Amino acid sequence: MMNKDSKIYIAGHNGLVGSAIVRKLKQEGFENLLVRTREELDLLDQRAVDGFFAEEKPAYVILAAARVGGIKANMTYPAEFLYENLQIQNNVIWSALKHDTEKFLFLGSSCIYPKASPQPMKEEYFLDGKPEPTNEAYAIAKIAGMKLCEKINAEYGRNFISCMPTNIYGPGDNFDLDSSHVIPALMRRMHEAKMANTPEVVIWGSGESRREFLYVDDLADAVVWLMNNYDGKDFLNVGTGEDVSIKELAVLIKGITGFEGALVFDTTKPDGMPKKLLDVSKLETLGWKADTKLEQGLSSTHEHFTSTLG
Ligand SMILES: NC(=O)c1ccc[n+]([C@@H]2O[C@H](COP(=O)([O-])OP(=O)(O)OC[C@H]3O[C@@H](n4cnc5c(N)ncnc54)[C@H](OP(=O)(O)O)[C@@H]3O)[C@@H](O)[C@H]2O)c1
Repeated sequence: MMNKDSKIYIAGHNGLVGSAIVRKLKQEGFENLLVRTREELDLLDQRAVDGFFAEEKPAYVILAAARVGGIKANMTYPAEFLYENLQIQNNVIWSALKHDTEKFLFLGSSCIYPKASPQPMKEEYFLDGKPEPTNEAYAIAKIAGMKLCEKINAEYGRNFISCMPTNIYGPGDNFDLDSSHVIPALMRRMHEAKMANTPEVVIWGSGESRREFLYVDDLADAVVWLMNNYDGKDFLNVGTGEDVSIKELAVLIKGITGFEGALVFDTTKPDGMPKKLLDVSKLETLGWKADTKLEQGLSSTHEHFTSTLG
C-alpha cells in the first residue's frame, strides 16, 4: 500500500492518462502529488530530470509521459517516437533508481506484442515475433522501458513494475484529426458532419476489424490498484478483455453524436489486423477488473468533447 504522506510524482500529468491518474489519486485522498509541466521540467533533459529527483526524492513514481500518437504520427515521425520515448523513460527510470524511489510504474502499450500474435494476447506471447511495422519505433521504446524496469529489479532488488494497457479513450483525449486515435477521430468527424448536415461520413476499411477500448478512468483505477497491490516481477496486461468491430463502434458513436447521415465503409482502404485483444485473465485473477461499459464511456467522452467546443 502506498503511504499517503509520501511524495508521488506523476510524469505526464496533463496527458489523457496522467490527468486521470491525478483525478483518481485525489479521489483516494492522496494529496502529496508532485507534477511538472514540460516547460518546468523537460523530461528529455537528463540533468534537469536528475536534479528534480535529487531535490524532491519522490517515494513513488508513475511514468505517464511519452510521445504518443495515432498511426499517421507514428509513420511520419518514427525517429522522434523512438528517440524521445527512450530518452524520457531512461532519464526518469534511472533517476528514480539513483534517488531511491520505492515503487515505480512504467506505462507500456499493447503494441509491444507481435503483429502476428495469437488472439487474445497473453503476456507470454511477448517477443515471439516482430511488432507491427507502422509503430515499430514506439513498440521498441516501450519494450526497452519495460525491460529496463525488469533488469533493475533483478540486479538491484527493486520494485519497478510495468503494465501494458490496450487502446485508451475518454475525457481529455486528443481530438486533432492529424494525430488522434479512432474514437476521438470518429466522434469529431460525426459531430462536424451533423453540424454541417453532411449526408455521409466515410470510414476507412470494411469496419469488420475488431479492437478493444478501455475507459481512461478505469486505467487510472488499475494503475493506482497496481501501485497499492502488485509487487510481482512480470508485466501485466490492462484491458477489458472484450472487443468490438469498428462498425459496431461507429454505430454507437453515431447514436451518441446524433449524426443522422450514412456511415460509408471504404473497402479500398486497409483494415489493419482483423482482431487485437488483450487476455486480461492474469490481472483479473489478481483482483482487478474494468467496469465502465463502452456506451457509458463514449457518452462521457462526448459530453467532455462538446463542452470544450464552447
Ligand atoms: N492513449 C492510449 O491509447 C494509450 C494506450 C496504451 C498505453 N498508453 C500509454 O500511456 C501513457 C500516456 O499516454 P497518453 O495517451 O496520456 O498520452 P498524452 O495524452 O499524449 O500525454 C503524454 C504526456 O507526456 C508529456 N510529455 C511528452 N514529452 C514530454 C517531455 N519531453 N517533457 C515533459 N513532458 C512530456 C506531455 O506533455 P505536454 O502536455 O506538454 O505535451 C503529455 O502531458 C504513455 O506511456 C502511453 O504509451 C496510452
